[in-house]
Amino acid sequence: MKTMTPSRVTFSTDQPRVAASGLADSAVTEISQELRQLLADVFALYVKTKNFHWHMSGRHFRDYHLLLDEHGDQLFAMTDDIAERARKIGGTSLRSISDIARNQRLQDNDAEKVSPKDMLTELHSDNQLLTKYLRHTHEVCDQGNDVATASLIENWIDETERRIWFLAEISQEI
Ligand SMILES: [Fe+2]
Repeated sequence: MKTMTPSRVTFSTDQPRVAASGLADSAVTEISQELRQLLADVFALYVKTKNFHWHMSGRHFRDYHLLLDEHGDQLFAMTDDIAERARKIGGTSLRSISDIARNQRLQDNDAEKVSPKDMLTELHSDNQLLTKYLRHTHEVCDQGNDVATASLIENWIDETERRIWFLAEISQEI
């Protein structure tokens, strides 16, 4: 009977694949791709949140301006952990702004003027979508037995749900 040796996926020299994590190559590929998209979405949402922080107006300017700054800080803090998680399991991450644009699922908002209510409503639905994407990545991590990434994702879901809660409460009263 012919013995089968485990197949090794080879990559170009600028992407050395060292699966020190012990995860299967297929899981590393799949989870890294999930993390790449998540990172692109979080960068896109970070910039949109800062955009709305900078361009906020109206009666509740101070409250909303400060809230969105807080949300921006939370999102920015996620970025390094997402990228480094991909590297820890032996994958790669985003390399440029154009790489973000290729991978983001959340849409940019380049409008000249956005009302405070529209800003908060849009961020609310973007954060809801982010939760959905995070849950999907969690499922992929479960399938690939990547407990540590799944654990980080649980915290990011909790933080995202907190942002959703605040945005829902304040956008109701406008
Ligand atoms: Fe600021």
